[in-house]
Amino acid sequence: MSNTVFSAVQPSGVPTIANYVGAIKNWVNLQNEYDCIFSIADLHTLTVKQVPAELRARTLELLALYIACGVDPEKCVLFVQSHVHEHAELTWILNTITAVGEMQRMTQFKDKSLKHAENINMGLMDYPVLMASDILLYNVQYVPVGADQKQHLEIARDLAMRFNARYSDTFIVPEPIIPKLGARVMSLQEPSSKMSKSDENVNAFISMLDSPDDIIRKFRRAVTDSDSVVRYDEQEKPGISNLMTIYSVFTGEDMDAIKARFEGKGYGEFKQQVGEAVAEGLKPIQDKRAELLADKTYLLSILKTGAEKASSIAFRTLRKVYKKVGLLQL
Ligand code: TRP
Repeated sequence: MSNTVFSAVQPSGVPTIANYVGAIKNWVNLQNEYDCIFSIADLHTLTVKQVPAELRARTLELLALYIACGVDPEKCVLFVQSHVHEHAELTWILNTITAVGEMQRMTQFKDKSLKHAENINMGLMDYPVLMASDILLYNVQYVPVGADQKQHLEIARDLAMRFNARYSDTFIVPEPIIPKLGARVMSLQEPSSKMSKSDENVNAFISMLDSPDDIIRKFRRAVTDSDSVVRYDEQEKPGISNLMTIYSVFTGEDMDAIKARFEGKGYGEFKQQVGEAVAEGLKPIQDKRAELLADKTYLLSILKTGAEKASSIAFRTLRKVYKKVGLLQL
């Protein structure tokens, strides 16, 4: 395959506008230019404790959200990771060429180990290898991800090169596509850290399902600075810069235009406008999502088709890999 793209989001919690801006929104543009495969990474989600019934429900909800955001099931392969068993199988093979120390050094592993100190499981450490398997199974060139996943993509590249060097050319070495704008949407309460759906303070993030009132209220309370000029400066004005990024993504206006628009207007007015732009942008997505969730048969049929298409590619890759490493074929 050539000119292909793979990406995925985990069905954990309700996605925030950071997931939307950093991932799903960009897929909508890519689907017209590339062969796209988008997955729901349910196996990754198991690396932290889940309530089984909730995980099951969120899996279908995430698919509905993908489609509501404009990801077109006619153009893309949409599937659930666990429906294609090759992901787990390739992970096993890649584990055998991955160093333990390499995994222990991963930033996300270190962060999550601190956060879930009572549950530092093998899966949590192996998370990047499963992610590498997701990508390498489909021989894709590009992987659109948020900036926080860049280190994991580096591992996928390393493992592809390592396998190719040891067993002969097999995998395409994938490249990340990191969005220039909005790669990192920051917390509304602590603009030095990234917006996270698991933040204890619900005012720190905007969920994709927040009501217009909640959205506007959260932006009104967003932490800024004691200055009063709307100007992009990540170092000096991280809060305002973050709001400008969000406003820009939702309205299409660039930073200069935004600065000019809010010249002499003060932060109150600016925050109100950001809130309204986001609320307006999310409303049609929320409506469409609810409509889709009323038709589970349709959603399941998409996943069935997606799993079949994904499986046929994954099967061929894994067979080749098994052969190259010396596993006897029947
Ligand atoms: N780890 C990614 C995240 O949390 C989700 C993911 C799983 C992914 N597999 C992937 C992203 C493969 C890109 C490619 O954002």
